[in-house]
Amino acid sequence: MAGTANLNLGDKSVDFATTQGSEGEKAILIKPFRQATGYVALDPGFVNTASCESSITFINGEEGVLHYRGYPIADLVENTSFLEVAHLLIEGHLPTQEEYEGFKNSITYHTLLHENLKRLFELVPTDAHPMSVLSAAVSALATFYQDSLDPMNEDQVRLSIHRLIGKLPTIAAFHYKRSRGQAYIYPDNRLDYAANFMKMMFGFHTEPYEVDEEVARILDQLLILHADHEQNCSTTAVRVVGSSQANLYASVTSGICALSGPLHGGANQAVLEMLQTIHDDGGDVQKFVELARDKTSGFRLMGFGHRVYKAYDPRAHFLQQKVEVVLRKLKVNDPLLNIARKLEEVALSDSYFKDRNLYPNVDFYSGIIYRALGIPVNMFTVMFALGRLPGWIAQWKENLEKGYPICRPRQIYTGETMRKVIPMSER
Ligand code: ACO
Repeated sequence: MAGTANLNLGDKSVDFATTQGSEGEKAILIKPFRQATGYVALDPGFVNTASCESSITFINGEEGVLHYRGYPIADLVENTSFLEVAHLLIEGHLPTQEEYEGFKNSITYHTLLHENLKRLFELVPTDAHPMSVLSAAVSALATFYQDSLDPMNEDQVRLSIHRLIGKLPTIAAFHYKRSRGQAYIYPDNRLDYAANFMKMMFGFHTEPYEVDEEVARILDQLLILHADHEQNCSTTAVRVVGSSQANLYASVTSGICALSGPLHGGANQAVLEMLQTIHDDGGDVQKFVELARDKTSGFRLMGFGHRVYKAYDPRAHFLQQKVEVVLRKLKVNDPLLNIARKLEEVALSDSYFKDRNLYPNVDFYSGIIYRALGIPVNMFTVMFALGRLPGWIAQWKENLEKGYPICRPRQIYTGETMRKVIPMSER
């Protein structure tokens, strides 16, 4: 419901329009703020700033709610596939059978990489971080596919979308193979999205690769859980870069770079490393909870806390329930799961974590599942990127379709005021 907010600043009284989203979130439209008052809003980290209106994803952090286009995440993860969710996010609706076949066929058609792009994997060090290689390869796609760079051309945008979704798993798997000194396994277009990825990762030319359908489905569900999360750091990066009308490949590259940080997507790798450290140290979780409570230690419990969720992250909730089933199915006995369970139990009953509403986030259990699937720890964030891709695309597209202006925040300057250069000989 539209309304008005009144602000008294000194001797000025100014009215601002307000707006309300379909789930009741309220906002003050501050665009005319500076012109009307001479002030700007100062909000480092965009803690209380809505950067856009969006009809893609809804989160209620207080109640642990996550919807894609109005559908609860638990419903989607149980009853749809990753490509259906990708269609939902990007096109705005769940596909009919016919739409699904068209979408899937086009993505499958684009799974191959240009043969020259393979040389990139041969040029980078074999121990390069897979996220650095992923961002370099996605950026390079713009050089190979110059026929799909115009963000204002609907056909070119569709082509770049299908190419990206088709090629990202191939890029990830090719670098993995290269880093292991193994031959590339080319995409198998008879397989579903997750199954094809598994074959490219774990198949060999010497023997047939039998995809375990149940395991492929688990991977597909993990991708769904990560598919979008409204205006997080990487999505904001994609929107900001896209607002300059940079092409989709360039915009998604910025999302991959943002996701690589340990406070964002890199946290799933950091969680596993932390659990391993606790394990190697003898498994005393209380000691590490104490360390996390101590602000001078610089140590945080990785996989705990979230900017938006101040309740249990619904994605973590699904994974927490699923992790044992997955490990049983894969016949994996992972001592890190026991450490994770104990850590969660101790932290959730600790006043420091309770007072700050710090709960496990999506990264807390996803790493244990990826590890059981055979995915190396340094590729966990790549898995996150494969899942998040449709969300980045949908948000990039929405930003352009709404005709939003280029993102260009202001600042409050706190540096030196007018100075005069002193010649070097006199400094
Ligand atoms: N361990 C210990 N203390 C924590 C943790 C943690 N994991 N997370 C937050 N806190 C504390 C902070 O020190 C702060 O305490 P204070 O109020 O006494 O100063 C309070 O909780 C609030 O934390 P902020 O850092 O202000 O919260 P913010 O919203 O800025 O940060 C973040 C959220 C970055 C996710 C943070 O919780 C964190 O660093 N978590 C660990 C890394 C992680 O798991 N990241 C993955 C996020 S989910 C994702 O990207 C998919």
